[in-house]
Amino acid sequence: MTTPELLGFQITHRAMRGETRRLAVLATELAEGRQTADVARAAAVGAYVTRLCAGIHHHHVSEDEVLWPVIERSAGAEVDLRDLSDDHSELDPLLAEVVGQAATFASTVSTGDASRLAALLTRLADMLDEHIEEEERLLFPIIMKYVSVADWEKVEKAVRKGGDIRTELPRIEEYARPEELVRLRRMAGPVLTVLLSLLRGGHRRRRRMIYGPLADG
Ligand SMILES: [Fe+2]
Repeated sequence: MTTPELLGFQITHRAMRGETRRLAVLATELAEGRQTADVARAAAVGAYVTRLCAGIHHHHVSEDEVLWPVIERSAGAEVDLRDLSDDHSELDPLLAEVVGQAATFASTVSTGDASRLAALLTRLADMLDEHIEEEERLLFPIIMKYVSVADWEKVEKAVRKGGDIRTELPRIEEYARPEELVRLRRMAGPVLTVLLSLLRGGHRRRRRMIYGPLADG
């Protein structure tokens, strides 16, 4: 391969956006009484929101600490990362607020109020949509043009390290389109198939608990 393979990053971005939006919709429906949560479901939602936010934070830290320096070294004056860095600084306190509110929701579910959590998750989903669209539009062409395959592999390794494989790997299967999954399987080899089959059951159980019995995936 002579150019970096961006598919893994693309799917991670898609999953981060998709899950944040899906949780925002769920919290809104809970707040409006269109769905209900008992203690177990509220705990599962709270824990999942916390894990998702930790994953998003980790992704941004990896970008700040590993990807940005690689881009600056490879592309120099071609790119200005300040807006994207500012977005990360703005997203950080919001992520912390979401995590705090998820814990509050999980511990006070008897009052049934998810409205604050819904508002925060909706704001987070909107900001992530905008940030990730901008990041892909601005950086993907630069990465393809200037970053070496070896440097890109270092970035991907840093992103993977410290990630939550139990949540993030099965999510790839959910968010990758069929032809993308074929490509990923070809790149990763049989280990991906084995890991996915090991993690699939637990992932589905957690999703049914969070999103309800009709949740796919
Ligand atoms: Fe970012």
